[in-house]
Amino acid sequence: MGKSPTADFTSVATVDELQPGERMVVELGRRWVAIFNVEGTYYAIEDVCTHDDGPLAEGELEGCVITCPRHGATFDIRTGKVLSAPAMVDVKSYDVQVRGNDIQVKPR
Ligand code: FES
Repeated sequence: MGKSPTADFTSVATVDELQPGERMVVELGRRWVAIFNVEGTYYAIEDVCTHDDGPLAEGELEGCVITCPRHGATFDIRTGKVLSAPAMVDVKSYDVQVRGNDIQVKPR
């Protein structure tokens, strides 16, 4: 439809700012987005737990599963899917691409 596939992506960081095993939180629009580098693959989810707004990027990450530091709900950072209570609702997730040195995200 005449739109380049990168049109809706926004640069939020550079690759050297986010090494494998690291995570960062950026502001995008009026949302906070947690970006993860898991062994060279990037994932991004909203940094707000759907249970009670816990800061997900401060939780423990095992593989691709993040544990909310507030009450322990777990989410898959690849999809935003909720995996365990007390959260019941998936968290918003983002597509991530790398263009040159830029890490770019787009809401799904
Ligand atoms: S705020 Fe995340 S589990 Fe309660």
